[in-house]
Amino acid sequence: SLPSRVTVYEVGPRDGLQNESAVVPAADKAEFVRRLAAAGLGTVETTSFVDPRWVPQLADAEEVLGLLGDDGLGPRRPVLVPNVRGLDRALAAGVGAVAIFGSATETFARKNLNRTVEESVAMFAPVVERARAEGLWVRAYVSMCFGDPWEGPVPVAQVVDVCRRLMDLGCDQLSLGDTIGVGTVGHVHRLLDALGAGGIGPERVGVHFHDTYGQALANTLAALRDGVTVVDASAGGLGGCPYAKSATGNLATEDLVWTLDGAGVETGIDLDALVETSAWMAGRLGRPSPSRVVRALTGG
Ligand code: HMG
Ligand code: MG
Repeated sequence: SLPSRVTVYEVGPRDGLQNESAVVPAADKAEFVRRLAAAGLGTVETTSFVDPRWVPQLADAEEVLGLLGDDGLGPRRPVLVPNVRGLDRALAAGVGAVAIFGSATETFARKNLNRTVEESVAMFAPVVERARAEGLWVRAYVSMCFGDPWEGPVPVAQVVDVCRRLMDLGCDQLSLGDTIGVGTVGHVHRLLDALGAGGIGPERVGVHFHDTYGQALANTLAALRDGVTVVDASAGGLGGCPYAKSATGNLATEDLVWTLDGAGVETGIDLDALVETSAWMAGRLGRPSPSRVVRALTGG
């Protein structure tokens, strides 16, 4: 059965906008976060403190947080940080939550972090240690949990191993990234099962599906039936990952909310306000939202 309540972890301002070719002004990014929060999205990932040469779309992280003021702070406004340099910047901006982001595969670790898996764990260790000492909430993403565009299908045991290494650093929550959207329901079940056997139960796990193959919603429901209650989604289905070929947008938040509303699962989200926000952002980006629900409800 499905849980009675699901926490939607909104990644549109980060995972969505990091992959848009259009440059979105900082003021629009801040307004996006504010409107999402007003639509009932409790947790909104706001930006990334990565090397701006790697992700120029989010080079304005400090400016966005400055514009957000108190609306960008606290444990439910995480930002991505890859290293101590990123954590320093995030702490200077006053954030209350950070997310590190590892990879289940060597090829993607190299392409996204310029490190081996081993070296990236070593890069994250002091970040997590210091973040915890500062009282921050810490999330650990693992990318390529199902398949990798260069390496093909990724063995479950390999994924569990990386997840354990990152969670052992002391992270509060794990997010399982299907970066290129190739996962299917049986695979989701097998991975959650193996994680549980490895000591990481579904109460500490979020799922992060990209909708490349149209499986994101089905996979989400499979994870919810297995006890997961945190689901990553991106308003309007924005996004992708600049360093993973063939990554398209995340599960659209509207598509998720439509399904959960229909199933009587509480999210606290006002779908109409959310759709209006995504339609507004689609206008700023100059292209229609890829979300089916946004299109249906806006007649687009
Ligand atoms: P590197 O080149 O190995 O870095 O990159 P370095 O440590 O050797 O430093 C080189 C230079 O970068 C130095 O400057 C540093 O100061 C600077 P220099 O002395 O040469 O002038 N630098 C920084 N500047 C600002 N902020 C920083 C920072 N760090 C170093 N934090 C690094 C290594 C990790 C930094 C780089 O690879 C990077 O920034 N990668 C980020 C890639 C990224 O953001 N990808 C997208 C997010 S992941 C994702 O989308 C997947 C997810 O959604 C889940 C899923 O779907 O699977 C989460
Ligand atoms: Mg992603």
